[in-house]
Amino acid sequence: MAHAPAPVLTIDGPSGSGKGTISRLVAEKLGWRMLDSGALYRAVGYAAGAEGIDLSDEGAVTRCAQHVKIRFQASPDGGETHVLVNGHDATDELRTETAGAAASAIAVIPAVRQALVDLQLAFRKAPGLVADGRDMGTVIFPDAAFKVFLTASAGERAKRRYKQLKDKGLSVTLVGLQREIEARDARDASRPVAPLKPAEGAVVIDTTGMPIEVVVAKVFAVVRP
Ligand code: DC
Repeated sequence: MAHAPAPVLTIDGPSGSGKGTISRLVAEKLGWRMLDSGALYRAVGYAAGAEGIDLSDEGAVTRCAQHVKIRFQASPDGGETHVLVNGHDATDELRTETAGAAASAIAVIPAVRQALVDLQLAFRKAPGLVADGRDMGTVIFPDAAFKVFLTASAGERAKRRYKQLKDKGLSVTLVGLQREIEARDARDASRPVAPLKPAEGAVVIDTTGMPIEVVVAKVFAVVRP
């Protein structure tokens, strides 16, 4: 007899909406696995750059997406998960705004998105999966039982990213960040394939001015009311 597929909670939303932090905390609370799909697009952009590929060369970027080896490695001390791209620990490089912009640029290529589908589906294992991204509830796991769309004002999202990047010792300006975030959102939301938008039936939560614990409680309640 076939087993029912493991339950999935999809958490989609624009950059800086708190998806990453919230997904990790809710996954921990549920004891479920987590998929950071943005890291896959960042890894492809990074690998392509490292191979000297022009990001507008769709064929070359697609071949790179089809062959790149991406591995998530849990930190032994319970710290952040490391991302290995073709064997190189690229965790630090992947979190920069440059990597985010490269990811957003290659994410418009349909064949690149297609190349990453099976990898994402393979994360769905018992006891469950929290999937963080832009198209988790609309394209990758349309049958997910639980769907959330997190949002926040562009000003607040820029402030959060600013704090995150500063804490990590990166040099950024608030004005520059807000501009980059708005440009990235516009591209992610207007692309013809898998644009950023709330999935049908998703619970939309505007997190502007909301403390993290409150957002976690609201998202957790979607799965365990
Ligand atoms: O979530 P993030 O900032 O790490 O994502 C980086 C970029 O990757 C984002 O601007 C668009 C792309 N992306 C995507 O197209 N689909 C996803 N499911 C996740 C990310």
